[in-house]
Amino acid sequence: MASWFRLIVALLPLVVAGQHDLSSRQSSTVTVNLDQKYQIIDGFGCSEAFQRAVQMSRLTEDQQQYTLDLLFSTTKGAGLSILRNGIGSSPDMSSDHMVSIQPKNPGGPSSPPQYVWDGSDNKQLWVSQEAVKRGVKTIYADAWSAPGYMKTNGNDANGGSLCGVGGATCSSGDWRQAYADYLVQYIKYYLEANVTITHVGFLNEPELTTSYASMRSSGSQAADFIKVLGPTLQKANLSVGINCCDAEGWSSQAGMLGQLASVDQYISTITAHSYTSSPGSPMNTRHRVWQTEAADLNGNWQGAFFSSGGAGEGMTWANSIHTAIVNANASAYLYWIGAQTGTTNSKLIRIDGNNVSPSKRLWAFAQFSRSARPGAVRVGVQGAPNGVRTAAFQNVDGSVAVVFINGGTSTVSVQVKTTGGNAFAAAGATAFLTDNTHDFNETAASFTGDAASTSIPGRSIVSIVLR
Ligand SMILES: *[C@@H]1O[C@H](CO)[C@@H](O)[C@H](O)[C@H]1NC(C)=O
Ligand SMILES: *[C@@H]1O[C@H](CO)[C@@H](O)[C@H](O)[C@H]1NC(C)=O
Ligand SMILES: *[C@@H]1O[C@H](CO)[C@@H](O)[C@H](O)[C@H]1NC(C)=O
Ligand SMILES: *[C@@H]1O[C@H](CO)[C@@H](O)[C@H](O)[C@H]1NC(C)=O
Repeated sequence: MASWFRLIVALLPLVVAGQHDLSSRQSSTVTVNLDQKYQIIDGFGCSEAFQRAVQMSRLTEDQQQYTLDLLFSTTKGAGLSILRNGIGSSPDMSSDHMVSIQPKNPGGPSSPPQYVWDGSDNKQLWVSQEAVKRGVKTIYADAWSAPGYMKTNGNDANGGSLCGVGGATCSSGDWRQAYADYLVQYIKYYLEANVTITHVGFLNEPELTTSYASMRSSGSQAADFIKVLGPTLQKANLSVGINCCDAEGWSSQAGMLGQLASVDQYISTITAHSYTSSPGSPMNTRHRVWQTEAADLNGNWQGAFFSSGGAGEGMTWANSIHTAIVNANASAYLYWIGAQTGTTNSKLIRIDGNNVSPSKRLWAFAQFSRSARPGAVRVGVQGAPNGVRTAAFQNVDGSVAVVFINGGTSTVSVQVKTTGGNAFAAAGATAFLTDNTHDFNETAASFTGDAASTSIPGRSIVSIVLR
């Protein structure tokens, strides 16, 4: 008999005893305080800008529907509830350019506009309509730049500023009103196609000059434009919120807030990306704040939930979402791209020929997006077991969701209770699990008396919803 076999036989009783210990172990009681209310959650999302929607449209019809379900379905996928579209500024569609609705200079800022609508918008209209069919109500249309002829550098790429904002003068005149009218026209084209754009932005990473569509702006230059855009939207009877300014990082956006104070009444939502600094603490504003773009842009495709804590892993993104929502008061969290070709982690779903592969990043998003629905309020939660991060939400329908991220290696059991004025004894509980072997799969949950119970495997994320 091999010695390894004797060893296993000798260890067997210990293993069995260990399992017994685990199942009889006292579970932690986690208490959700429904009276301790924080920010409203607007949702979770992604973009298909820069012709990524075109890539999706090249799949077979079955695979298109599968991909759209993975992104937006609340029964088959992540249930993402925000789509961020790119408002084109380019004169053409070469490479991944987003085409403008006014590709040619109409002659000057006060010349009659010459808008052109191709009914496709680089397939973003189709993705928007499919998202709406699946319940998405928040469509954020964001321009990376104004068309080149409206800018100091005469090009929609390579930085430059909008003619007419402070410090940006052009021989052709002040294009602020023309740019505001242009954005309104874009919103109207979508309305005619039954897609209601709820939020509009006119900048993307305004502190950067890039070889693709980019437009520089300080906070006060953004304010110079918002004071024209705000009244223009009102005159058009459009109740579309103005988002600003999609800065490259959380702290640079925080630094722009003071200069936006003069147009505060026109602003709906403060938006920032996670590249140069990620959301770590709340911004000093009364407005809702969205994290509108983050991704592991260059890492090789990573499908795992946990491997070594790398930048593309699902658990890494579960933690990033948690930090933005719980520590930085974010009301929304968007990945950069939903589905795209190529070998990096810049998207949640990889398209390779006609193959569609969801990553665990997608399922990490599902854990939040499927349990904390738009309009939910984040509420207080106490009693998390060691090494487990918790976030709690009360949905508009009264249900309470708690999202647990277990960074440790062993399973922990939790009992979840509610307290506060509207505390309730759960009449039902459902739990969902994502880890290396589960993709938002339903997992055992029970309820006894006033508490619901579930267990959270090591290196996993579990969401429990109490009804
Ligand atoms: C928009 O909705 C209306 C009313 O339901 C319908 O008649 C029209 O065909 C729709 N338009 C598009 C472009 O889907
Ligand atoms: C906006 O609504 C008002 C009041 O209903 C109406 O008088 C006006 O004509 C509308 N303007 C536009 C541009 O639709
Ligand atoms: C969190 O954001 C809300 C707006 O959504 C704001 O009213 C509140 O003051 C913010 N809280 C903190 C701590 O900054
Ligand atoms: C998780 O759910 C999916 C989709 O329903 C299913 O195909 C898969 O087998 C489930 N995985 C596990 C580990 O139960």
